[in-house]
Amino acid sequence: MIKGVIFVQKRIKNNVSWVGKVDWDLQKFHGNEYSTHKGSTYNSYLIREEKTVLIDTVWQPFADEFVANLAQEIDVRTIDYIIANHGEVDHSGALPALMKHIPNTPIYCTANAVKSLSGQYHQHWNFQVVKTGDKLDIGNGKELIFVEMPMLHWPDSMATYLTGDHILFSNDAFGQHYANEELFNDLVDQCDLYQESLKYYANILTPFSHILKKKLAEILSLNLQIDLIATSHGVVWRDNPMQIVENYAKWADEYQENQITIIYDTMWNGTKVMAEKIAEGIGLADPNVVVKVFNVAKRDENDLITEVFKSKTVVIGSPTISNSILHSVAGFIHLMKGMKFKNKKAATFGCFGWSGECTKVMNNLLADAGFAMIDEGLKNPWQPDQDAQVQALAYGKKIAKST
Ligand code: FEO
Repeated sequence: MIKGVIFVQKRIKNNVSWVGKVDWDLQKFHGNEYSTHKGSTYNSYLIREEKTVLIDTVWQPFADEFVANLAQEIDVRTIDYIIANHGEVDHSGALPALMKHIPNTPIYCTANAVKSLSGQYHQHWNFQVVKTGDKLDIGNGKELIFVEMPMLHWPDSMATYLTGDHILFSNDAFGQHYANEELFNDLVDQCDLYQESLKYYANILTPFSHILKKKLAEILSLNLQIDLIATSHGVVWRDNPMQIVENYAKWADEYQENQITIIYDTMWNGTKVMAEKIAEGIGLADPNVVVKVFNVAKRDENDLITEVFKSKTVVIGSPTISNSILHSVAGFIHLMKGMKFKNKKAATFGCFGWSGECTKVMNNLLADAGFAMIDEGLKNPWQPDQDAQVQALAYGKKIAKST
């Protein structure tokens, strides 16, 4: 941290302020698993009613900066309660630095968060376990109400609702990895915001869609007035905050658009030629379908997962190598399997020289990943000649008509 840097808190509403960190530099998250082309934010919030409450902290590399910033705003010893909505290090990472100053301050969290925080930091902090519906009086007629959100994104996750100001502190849910200074959803680039929200859902929350559907229904059944959704990454939803809840309901329901996505890798361009001819065939058979073609080895895999998320059908290509397929393609199918996509079809193609296992290997992997296979796939010996290109065109037309 650079000494002497001033900190400017941002007012959310009345006595609630944002005291987090904007991470413009972040390019990878979860180690190297998730690309963050637009950086991220770690949102922490300070509530100053009769009681002073801190909701979540920031990622560990910014811990000292976070505590120093807080100390510019308040005497940290005046913090009455800490709310740890989620134990992952991007939100709890500054707790060790903060708790050195206030070791006995109660930390309100779920029972699972006690396990995750203890497992990561090995500290005997003053944990206060809460469950859905539990309330905490913070004075001036306001309360915090806790809502467990298991698997959104870890078993320990919860949301916290502030009565009076009607703010839902949703933690990871409804967030985006999107660095911004504007803070509120109505002030940022709307295309960026939609794209980053969609990518975040597609890559992080898709495996938990079935849980999310039930949780959204539960939250809505509480009939809470929600004026603001204060996430832990990206913007605070202020303008029509329920728009992101409505999008989540749509995305959680086996979402797809009228899109077919071709994802392949190639060695000597034969499989690339097939990919492009299959795309042409799809376009000829169905001019209304969106067709996209990507070489997986040259593209960002998280962006490709977002494309798969939007697709009704994926067409996967690899040449045969070592009686199998290229590791770029195998790795991407493995990544797709983890997403537990539902209601999507798949087809395969690839060139080969002699043994020709490519389509069979991909068919087995894709079926295991939950895709409904259209057929046995299209494979071509050596480089595609004109007849083979016509076959690939026809295969594209078949795919378009099969979806
Ligand atoms: Fe943003 Fe699951 O942590």
